[in-house]
Amino acid sequence: MYTDIVMEHFQNPRNVGEIPDADGVGQIGNPACGDITKVFIKVEDGVITDAKFKTFGCAAAIATSSIMTEMAKGKTVEEALRITHRHVAEALGGLPPKKMHCSNLAADALHAAIRDYQRRRGLPVPEERPSSGHHHEDHHGE
Ligand code: FES
Repeated sequence: MYTDIVMEHFQNPRNVGEIPDADGVGQIGNPACGDITKVFIKVEDGVITDAKFKTFGCAAAIATSSIMTEMAKGKTVEEALRITHRHVAEALGGLPPKKMHCSNLAADALHAAIRDYQRRRGLPVPEERPSSGHHHEDHHGE
């Protein structure tokens, strides 16, 4: 049901843990299943230099969190805010349609961490755009 990339990230998740002196922290829960993702970011000169996560959730939630941290690192906060749950799922080679909702956790927690960073710095916080808007099922893996 899952792609090899999903299984690989689930079995060897990248960037698991906390950043004690994080510049931004975001936590999102999925009301449907009770799963939770917490994301920590370090930001230097507007660029995300480190990202870590703790996810209490299903295989898809852990794999999407893992690849999301890799996608976020090295991006500016503006670029990282444009990472949607669909980008995350596509980077994993797709998710089964029934598990697409699981990818919302990673993207939304990343965005929440960035907004936390912006609030702490007194920067304008862009309006929240839920990543779970409209998504197409044309990229799901086999
Ligand atoms: Fe809860 Fe996947 S079942 S995030």
